[in-house]
Amino acid sequence: MSTKSRTAILFVCLGNICRSPLAEGVFRAIVAERGLEHAFEIDSAALGDWHVGGPPDARSVAVAHRVGIDISLQRARQIALPDFSRFDLIFGMDRSNISRLCELAPKEARQRIHLFLDYALGKEEDVPDPYYGTEENFSEVYEKIREASEALISRLAPESPPRSGQASSIT
Ligand code: 4NP
Repeated sequence: MSTKSRTAILFVCLGNICRSPLAEGVFRAIVAERGLEHAFEIDSAALGDWHVGGPPDARSVAVAHRVGIDISLQRARQIALPDFSRFDLIFGMDRSNISRLCELAPKEARQRIHLFLDYALGKEEDVPDPYYGTEENFSEVYEKIREASEALISRLAPESPPRSGQASSIT
């Protein structure tokens, strides 16, 4: 099948071990709930190279596991120049991610770069970096990502409601 009609979405954060792998896993699960796997290409990447090749942070793996999503096999990678033409939508998790993405991106790709919560929810807010935080911070990150991902799929595919009940808040 041609992949040309797919919308390619890249979630980006600083390390690609806490927020963006969770966003990748949650959005992928929502897409699967709606039977829309054919319509999206979904990936995540880091701005930094510290964790390249490594698994997601155990706290992100755990928070995803609690709602039945397995992100343990995802591996961190650093964003590269071809990503700016390969992906239609590039979502930074916070405003410092956006600044860095705009520095790295070729001029013509800057319109593809958006703050995730702003694009999905109309809120000019960050998904805050939980790396030095608590398990509760990871739960809060999950809730923000879940809400934004539900809104994103409604925006991108308004005609396709979930096939079964909506998953799930962990609080
Ligand atoms: P992330 O969190 O950007 O959500 O993956 C971080 C992960 C690692 C580091 C910072 C933030 N770090 O400094 O290594």
